[in-house]
Amino acid sequence: MSISNEIIIKANQHVKTHQSLVGSDPYRLHYHLMPTVGLLNDPNGFVYYKGQYHVFYQWNPFVTAHGPKFWGHYVSTDLVHWKEVPPAIAPGDWYDRNGCYSGSAAVLGDTLYLFYTGNVKDEQGNRESYQCLAVSEDGIHFEKKGPIIHVPEGYTEHFRDPKVFLNNGKWYMVLGAQTIEEQGVAVLYSSPDLQEWSFQGILAGSGYHGLGDLGYMWECPDLVELDGTDILLVCPQGMDPNGFEYQNMFQSGYIAGKMDYKEGKFNHGPFVEMDRGFDFYAPQTMEDPNGRRILFGWMGNAIESDIQQPTTKFNWIHALTLPRELEWKKGKLLQRPVEELKLLRGEETRYLNVNLKDNQQLSFNGQVFEMKMAIDRMEGETLTIQIGESKLIYHQREGVFTFQRKSYYLSDQESRHCYLKDLKKIHLFKDTSSIEIFLNDGEEVFTSRVFDDIETDEIVVHTSGSVAMNLLKWDLHRVTSY
Ligand code: FRU
Repeated sequence: MSISNEIIIKANQHVKTHQSLVGSDPYRLHYHLMPTVGLLNDPNGFVYYKGQYHVFYQWNPFVTAHGPKFWGHYVSTDLVHWKEVPPAIAPGDWYDRNGCYSGSAAVLGDTLYLFYTGNVKDEQGNRESYQCLAVSEDGIHFEKKGPIIHVPEGYTEHFRDPKVFLNNGKWYMVLGAQTIEEQGVAVLYSSPDLQEWSFQGILAGSGYHGLGDLGYMWECPDLVELDGTDILLVCPQGMDPNGFEYQNMFQSGYIAGKMDYKEGKFNHGPFVEMDRGFDFYAPQTMEDPNGRRILFGWMGNAIESDIQQPTTKFNWIHALTLPRELEWKKGKLLQRPVEELKLLRGEETRYLNVNLKDNQQLSFNGQVFEMKMAIDRMEGETLTIQIGESKLIYHQREGVFTFQRKSYYLSDQESRHCYLKDLKKIHLFKDTSSIEIFLNDGEEVFTSRVFDDIETDEIVVHTSGSVAMNLLKWDLHRVTSY
C-alpha cells in the first residue's frame, strides 16, 4: 500500500471516531461546506466535470491547526446540495510529503487534471515547493503524476497555488510567488497540452507597474475575464492596515486591467479589497456551463495560533463561503449569492411598505435565514439592524457601513467598516455561526463567522431619522447532514 493510501485510511478512521463530537456542536453550519473533522482552509480545484460541480478544499483531518494538507472533496449538481466523496489526494510522496497545497482543476477530453503545490519541509523547516499534477477519469479516483514545474531562478521556495485556465485555445497557469527580493508577485506560465509548461514572467507584483508595497508574498492568484476586463484575484501577505482597509491578517482583493497574452503582459490598475468582513480569503473561481463566473472563498483567515475558535472544542474549524456569481459593472467587481440558493428557502415573512419613524423599530426572529431589504427612502442619521449579538449600522451622513460582532477571543465587540455612498439594498445570509452581507447588489460584501449565544434569535431594525423599505425574510432549510 502506498503511503498516501495508508494516510487516507487513517483520516477516514479519524472522521468516524470524531463524528459524534463534531456533530454535537450547535455551531455546525446548516448550508455551508465544512470539514467533517479537523481544519478546512482554501477552496481548490473548483470545476464542472461530467455533469457535476466539484469543489475540493485544503484539509487537515487530524487537528484543528494547519499542517500536511489533503484535498477534501465535495460534489453537487446544483451548488446547494453537496455530497462528500473520498479525499482526492493526500500527502506522503517525496514531492508533497508535508502537504498537497492549494491548486486548481482543468478538464481536457474526458480527463480531469488537478494542479497543486507539493509542499516539502526538512528537519530545519526549510521549504521546497513543486507544482504537481494528478489525473482522474471518473472525478473520484486520482492518480498522482508528480512534479511538472520546479521553482525558477530569481524566486524563493514560496512559489505555490497554481490556477490553470484556457484562453483562446491555449493553457495558462498563474502562480503566487515571492521574488528573492522578497516581493509578492503573480507569475504566468503557458502550455500547449497541460503537461509541458513554460515560464512567461511576472504579471503583477508588489512594487511593480505602479503598485505600491503590496506585501512579501502573494497567494492564491486567479485570472478571470468578465465583460472584456481581465481581473487578477490575489491574496497578498504582509500589507499594513490602511484606514478601514486591510484589517485582517492577510488580504484578498483584485487588480483589473487588460491582458496581452501574446506578450504575457498585464496592463492594470490598483489593488482593491474584495470583502470587508473578518473571515474571507483565498477565493477561487470557475466558469460554469452557463457561462457564469462562480466563486468560492475560504470563510476564514489566518489567526494567531493561540486563538481558539469556539468550534475547536468540537474538533473542527472553518468553512467555505456560499458560492457567489461575479459580475464586472462600471469598473467594479460585484459578488452576488448564486440563484440556486433559493432552493434553501422555507417559510417566507414579508414586511411590505414599512415606514419606520425616528426611534421606531421592527423586530422579528430568526437564526438561520436569508433576508432582503430594499430601501426606498432614508432620511436622517443611522439605520441599525441587530441580528443576534451582531449589528449592521449604516451612517448615512458619513456614508459608512459598519459590521459589528461579538469577538470570540476578546471580551468585547469588534467592527469592520467600509465607505458606501448610497445604501439601497441589503441581502444577507445568516447561518448558525456565519453571516454574509451583500450591499447594493454585491458592490460591497462583509463575510464573517459569528458565535452568538446559541439561544439568541432576535432581529431588530431600528432607525434614528426615518426609513421607508420593504423587507423579506426566509427561514432556510438545513442541507448539511454531517
Ligand atoms: C492560503 C495558503 C496557500 C497554501 C495553502 C496551504 O491560505 O497558505 O498559499 O497553498 O493555504 O494550506
